[in-house]
Amino acid sequence: MKQALIPEFYDLSERILNSGDGYWGNLGYWQPGNDYSMACEGLARQLAAAVDLNPDSRVLDAGFGCGDQLLLWLRDYHIEYLCGINYSISQTELAQQRLSHAGYHDAANNIHQSDVTVLSESTEVTTKNINTVLALDCAYHFPSRKKFINDSYKILKHASNDDNKTIGFTDIILAETAAGNKISWEKRLFLNIMLRLSQIPQHNIMTLSEYENQLKQAGFEHVVSQDISDQVFLPFGHWLNSQEDSIKKAAGKRSVWLKYKITTVFLAWAYKNQVLRYVIVSAAVES
Ligand SMILES: C[S@@+](CC[C@H](N)C(=O)[O-])C[C@H]1O[C@@H](n2cnc3c(N)ncnc32)[C@H](O)[C@@H]1O
Repeated sequence: MKQALIPEFYDLSERILNSGDGYWGNLGYWQPGNDYSMACEGLARQLAAAVDLNPDSRVLDAGFGCGDQLLLWLRDYHIEYLCGINYSISQTELAQQRLSHAGYHDAANNIHQSDVTVLSESTEVTTKNINTVLALDCAYHFPSRKKFINDSYKILKHASNDDNKTIGFTDIILAETAAGNKISWEKRLFLNIMLRLSQIPQHNIMTLSEYENQLKQAGFEHVVSQDISDQVFLPFGHWLNSQEDSIKKAAGKRSVWLKYKITTVFLAWAYKNQVLRYVIVSAAVES
């Protein structure tokens, strides 16, 4: 395992947002009375439902954070097999420890620190009959979602004798109302600056129809999407504001609080100006 010698963009800092022993780090699917960990788990469960996660699922999880979702797939959905990759060194190390500690030693050995870009080079993955690929709140960060879609198609196509081969995302897309020249150059500039600061490649932010086309061009069928923006963008900010004192105290450094505050202000702006939407997308590979 590599050591993180310089500070990582994706690290363990979301711990301070969580309750219990959670390390979730997504935007959440918010329902009344939720705290951050509950909302994050809620988003994971929405994804699980979209791909019909079940005891026959053989899962490749890309961008699994600190492993909370991996424990959920194993404990609550009793999936048959789990492997995963995550760019973050510190998160992967923690996820491995947490899986081992929970007794999931095989899964702990099957999750690795790696860039999703080299997915197609992993021979291990293609021999494991993966029938489910998951990307929970992370594909917009990947260097190229399109390449990830194409590589995932090949991995799923490779799986033998399985009728139910699925890919699932929870993801950020461009609102149709912001496509082309439909927003002012000032808004476009602000969007691009915020994407850059958030390490989101501009080319990943596309409309739903462009997204669906990428899936279909890769070979996927039965593309299903659900817009859950109302349950994501504003409630996250409302919750953060309600917890300002305790998060500032836990964060210690003002810069940590500011990172979350700026994120929620940006997301609220993008939602209210109809620039970004949040969706759950699934698609299938015909055997
Ligand atoms: C917003 S976090 C979401 C974490 C987790 N899925 C969750 O819901 O709590 C994005 C995750 O994607 C991972 N990631 C970003 N770029 C990646 C890449 N190129 N390859 C693999 N993982 C990547 C990060 O390390 C991080 O774990």
